[in-house]
Amino acid sequence: MITVVGANKGGCSKTTTAVNIAVGLALRGEEVVLVDADIQLSASRWNAERESSGLQPFITLIQKTGNIAATLRSLDEKYKHVIVDVAGRNSRELITACTVAHQLIAPHQCSQLDLDTMLELQEQLIQVRDLNPELKAYCYQSIASTNVILAGTERNEFLEYVAEFDQLKPLNSKSCFRKVYRDVMAEGKSVLETGNEKAKVEIWSLIDEVF
Ligand SMILES: Nc1ncnc2c1ncn2[C@@H]1O[C@H](COP(=O)(O)OP(=O)(O)OP(=O)(O)O)[C@@H](O)[C@H]1O
Ligand SMILES: [Mg+2]
Repeated sequence: MITVVGANKGGCSKTTTAVNIAVGLALRGEEVVLVDADIQLSASRWNAERESSGLQPFITLIQKTGNIAATLRSLDEKYKHVIVDVAGRNSRELITACTVAHQLIAPHQCSQLDLDTMLELQEQLIQVRDLNPELKAYCYQSIASTNVILAGTERNEFLEYVAEFDQLKPLNSKSCFRKVYRDVMAEGKSVLETGNEKAKVEIWSLIDEVF
């Protein structure tokens, strides 16, 4: 199964989401390959750190940019899960990946600057679905507020906004702003390998919802 973690906005938690999902699936004993399709190579740096620390499970990572469709198809024959991290813009990697993917997870923060890019994603999905009508596309609220007063209002605003885009389905799971997501990136770890129960629940519920 090919899962693209992509959106047209930088810094919305794509790489963080992709690496945490990859580790979660691997912890469940499934064959996973992580594809770094972003020239910034953030996922590759995370994985190099993971490898040098000797962390298990080992995550196989492949770097590929440009038209990545054929590479993804080939990896899909060998691995149960192909997780693709793309750059935060309208990119050739995002589009070519979506032509062969089974699903897209599109993280968006509930901020106007992130939400403004959803219209572009909606238009891309209409075109890509001409080629890949089975593609599922999920909108994942990321870096959400943990403030009890703000969280409910923010969630409602997010859902109201996503409802305007019929090509995207909002996920019930979301990730909140938690320092642990930042800290683990430098250590080559997933939040699932920490004692932060709230962050762990967020990632496991995302995995349970989409896989
Ligand atoms: N849930 C979270 N809580 C707190 N910080 C987060 C969370 N998710 C991501 N971050 C932080 O936000 C920043 C952007 O995250 P990340 O690099 O995963 O986004 P991205 O969408 O891959 O960015 P880019 O478009 O540059 O590839 C990073 O500093 C990351 O550590
Ligand atoms: Mg990234």
